[in-house]
Amino acid sequence: MHRLAIFASGSGSNAERIIRYFQDHPDIHVPLIVSNHAEAYVLQRAENLKVPYVVFDREAFSDAGSLLRVLQEHGITWIVLAGFLWKVPDELVKIYDRRMINIHPALLPSYGGKGMYGERVHRAVLAAGEKESGITIHYVNERYDEGECIFQARCPVLPEDTPESLADRIHALEHKHFPVVIEGLLLGEWSEG
Ligand code: GRF
Repeated sequence: MHRLAIFASGSGSNAERIIRYFQDHPDIHVPLIVSNHAEAYVLQRAENLKVPYVVFDREAFSDAGSLLRVLQEHGITWIVLAGFLWKVPDELVKIYDRRMINIHPALLPSYGGKGMYGERVHRAVLAAGEKESGITIHYVNERYDEGECIFQARCPVLPEDTPESLADRIHALEHKHFPVVIEGLLLGEWSEG
């Protein structure tokens, strides 16, 4: 059995999709949500879906030992970052090497890096006049948004788009693909293309 922890800082719509997708799955279970924000809506979703959660403040989060203890207590084998805004401590990245993935709301390597998250990404894509954007699912390494790419999907950017309308299109793409890519990856059935 694979046991996924989802790390999320905000609304958690991706977290909810992933939890629902794996609810009755024979091989993959989501027993833990981790957040850095006690008011994050993802915690409300976790409560509704009856998934345990834990909130870390900055000090506790930077202590890889205490983080690791919580993950081990829940038997976590994989970590999924779904809208998580803090950098994960390097020790944890090493321990979960190729077992920690992130989703980014643009086509990396473009529009990534420190400070590029949420609406800022979509604003930058629109300001550059891109005709296309998309999502990137990638392994996490020690540098923001630079881990090896696992999957990308594309969508058009329309002339009348606002950051909000583009964000909606990107979210739909994330919800469609993220759980399926996770499943393929964990079950070793994922191949690109
Ligand atoms: C997603 O667009 C994700 O790509 C980005 O943050 C957003 C999180 O959305 N990293 P939600 O909290 O899952 O609704």
